[in-house]
Amino acid sequence: MSSKLLVLLLIFSLNLRGCLVLASDPDPLQDFCIPNPLFGSIKTAHLSILPCKNSDEATTNDFVFSGLKSAGNFTDTGLATIPVNPTVFPGLNTLGMSFVRADLKVDGINPPHFHPRATEIAYVVQGRIYAGFVDSGNRVFARVIEQGEVMVFPRGLVHFLMNVGKTPATIFGSLNSQNPGNQKIPSAVFGSGINEELLQKAFGLSLKQIGTMKRRFNPKT
Ligand SMILES: *[C@@H]1O[C@H](CO)[C@@H](O)[C@H](O)[C@H]1NC(C)=O
Repeated sequence: MSSKLLVLLLIFSLNLRGCLVLASDPDPLQDFCIPNPLFGSIKTAHLSILPCKNSDEATTNDFVFSGLKSAGNFTDTGLATIPVNPTVFPGLNTLGMSFVRADLKVDGINPPHFHPRATEIAYVVQGRIYAGFVDSGNRVFARVIEQGEVMVFPRGLVHFLMNVGKTPATIFGSLNSQNPGNQKIPSAVFGSGINEELLQKAFGLSLKQIGTMKRRFNPKT
């Protein structure tokens, strides 16, 4: 059998296993696994099964990420995030974690969203932020957190942030999956193409109001 075919079979069987039983990132089988660029783009492959390059070829720079020194690009809600996962930081591959820098302008918000595959710990680097999450019984746990404080958002629960201070705010979030996923509630509901009649009935909105929401929350913009 050719080695290429073997690799394909391995990837296929690992994929099946991942779908059926894994509830969190798998434990690594080796110290690290810097993805081998010869085996294709990390953006399209299944993140946890990328073939590694020979460990002799790993360098210190594979384990350093320098892209968090300043804020990212701001959205119209006053939020700038830089998600750091193996796509931009190959050294993270197979290690079961990722992180994010989030900056909020004064009055800026991070709208309700959740990470299906990760718990998040958020550390306030600077500023005052109203932060919280909602549990599966729709109970909200929220308060203002300040510089030096940490809040945890349990896996899969809806959470949100708003800068309530007089200065810009910066948060550093750490997530226990290399591929946590980020589902934004407004986009999932109004920007995904769900039948409009269903949305009207679910939210008690007119067709015109649904149209406004759809234009606003198209996830592609
Ligand atoms: C911000 O936008 C510029 C221009 O589109 C882009 O080159 C840059 O990579 C973006 N920065 C981040 C952190 O996404």
